[in-house]
Amino acid sequence: MDIRNKIAIITGASSGIGLATARLFSKKGAMLALAARSSCPKLPDSIIIRADITKPADIRRIVKQTLKHFGRIDILINNAGRGYDSLVTEIDFKKWQYIIDLDLFGPVRTMQAVIPVMKKQRGGVIVNISSGTALMVLPSMSPYSSIKSALSKLSQTAREELANEKIAVSVVYPYITATKFERNTLKSVRNTGEEEWDNTGIPPPDPPEHVARMILEAVETRISEIFAHDWMAKNRR
Ligand SMILES: NC(=O)c1ccc[n+]([C@@H]2O[C@H](COP(=O)([O-])OP(=O)(O)OC[C@H]3O[C@@H](n4cnc5c(N)ncnc54)[C@H](OP(=O)(O)O)[C@@H]3O)[C@@H](O)[C@H]2O)c1
Repeated sequence: MDIRNKIAIITGASSGIGLATARLFSKKGAMLALAARSSCPKLPDSIIIRADITKPADIRRIVKQTLKHFGRIDILINNAGRGYDSLVTEIDFKKWQYIIDLDLFGPVRTMQAVIPVMKKQRGGVIVNISSGTALMVLPSMSPYSSIKSALSKLSQTAREELANEKIAVSVVYPYITATKFERNTLKSVRNTGEEEWDNTGIPPPDPPEHVARMILEAVETRISEIFAHDWMAKNRR
């Protein structure tokens, strides 16, 4: 899909990957509905919608306001999200429920709100932002990686279910990306916070603009899955 003059909803557009995607899509001529709890950048032909993706009424409002302003929805980028680090034995169910509401139920509810619109229009593209952690087994990251795995599986299944409607569902797998993600990650790990994660020998973080280009590629090609780096797909576990 050529995104020029297309209408795209981007969730989590106030920071990091969502912000870089909003800037890139705007540069390429898309018209945007930018959603987050805090303020998003004012870009040409864009509207800003303050919304909390854990709240179903806010999700309905995003779709309603986008339709009211632009009259259609061609693209949905489900990007808003946060991490939650904990050993399996230490998982705090209240924190996990919050992250499930945000990282899994949020994108699914947004898909459910947008898909009837895309069906009527006879087409559209949905891109769900998963995580490289969904492809790996990483101690202390299971509350997050398991949710992103679920989102990936659900997206692949929705892709099959919606193929006849000309709606493509794609999954993007970022590698560690230099955003506020780590700072915003909830934690239930028994440490002092002073231990440094040993990251010797692993590739440096990607800039958010790298992931924004992957998201654009997913929309343009309607590809099923796209990985920040080839080695991530090859080492899938
Ligand atoms: N950075 C990484 O290393 C990495 C790696 C793999 C996958 N990812 C995924 O990439 C996506 C974007 O993360 P990021 O790295 O760009 O992190 P970020 O800089 O922390 O940005 C997260 C975005 O999500 C929004 N958000 C958080 N809670 C929200 C809520 N309740 N309602 C609405 N919006 C909410 C934030 O906006 P407000 O706070 O203004 O609401 C912000 O715009 C996430 O889905 C994350 O899981 C990140």
